[in-house]
Amino acid sequence: MLYNITAATGNLGVKIVEEALKYIEPNNLVLTVRNPDKAAHFKQMGIGIKQANYRSEQALTAAFSGSDILIYIPSLTFPSVARIMEFENAIVAAEKTGIKQFIFIGFMADHGNNPFKMSPFFGYVQRRLASGTVPYTYIRNGMYSDPLPPYLPELARWGKILYPVADQKISFISRKDLAKAIVQIAIKESLHGKEYTLTGPKAWSMAELAELMSRISGSSIIYDPLTTEQFAELYDEPKGFGPVLVSLYEAAAKGLMGEVTEDFERITGEKAEDLSIYMEREYRGLS
Ligand SMILES: NC(=O)c1ccc[n+]([C@@H]2O[C@H](COP(=O)([O-])OP(=O)(O)OC[C@H]3O[C@@H](n4cnc5c(N)ncnc54)[C@H](OP(=O)(O)O)[C@@H]3O)[C@@H](O)[C@H]2O)c1
Repeated sequence: MLYNITAATGNLGVKIVEEALKYIEPNNLVLTVRNPDKAAHFKQMGIGIKQANYRSEQALTAAFSGSDILIYIPSLTFPSVARIMEFENAIVAAEKTGIKQFIFIGFMADHGNNPFKMSPFFGYVQRRLASGTVPYTYIRNGMYSDPLPPYLPELARWGKILYPVADQKISFISRKDLAKAIVQIAIKESLHGKEYTLTGPKAWSMAELAELMSRISGSSIIYDPLTTEQFAELYDEPKGFGPVLVSLYEAAAKGLMGEVTEDFERITGEKAEDLSIYMEREYRGLS
């Protein structure tokens, strides 16, 4: 069985490759990457490296050729129409090369009424997969915990959590845990063909998050949200991205980012790491 992982040079992709190596021989792994230089260390381990930009159906077809199981991690390309074309190239390449299982790595913010400005992409993906001929698994990742530890010093300086989500909750999961579940799905045929929502064990209100952040940083942090306009202006980096970023918190304010499921435990046989344990370890590791 030949496994192919796309975007394997990204933060999530690297974690998936590292996890996959616990179960799959390097010569049964292929990485489809935009920039092979970034995958040089994996090449040295005997993993196959294929170069392909998502913009080229031809390059993707060459890269997927001979593979059985594909783990497709989308780019962060915005707007959705551009990312849809990237995905379209990949799904056509998967059809042409007879991929046996297309494992799509998505995001929780895919609801039909989700205001997240990157959400339209996921609407297309779902319909395209459902109406196509390639067998597939659809994975909805929860919000990454990973950006929180490096963000904590800034939060401590503010003394505030600023997310404009009112009294709603967000569930977080680390990329490492996501990789654990995704690799199990890839290697176990019995898990193929379904939809999964990968989340941490609980959703956090911002008041609870502020308490946790206070405890870990040793400074007082309260929940004092900005308005959506203020938040978009403060985090408008790169210029113009603020409204896109804040639309994710508008989704959270509608209660759409707090889903908690047992999928992770069902897949891996263990609970995803609680945010408090994750934060404690990672924050100490930073200082
Ligand atoms: N759950 C969450 O909270 C959350 C948050 C942010 C993003 N996401 C989603 O998670 C996924 C990836 O996350 P990540 O943390 O791994 O992001 P990342 O570290 O920014 O990695 C992005 C990857 O996509 C590759 N890529 C970008 N444009 C490409 C193109 N045109 N052709 C081929 N490859 C391309 C990059 O290649 P290079 O190495 O060559 O640049 C890189 O490997 C994305 O689908 C994103 O939408 C989820």
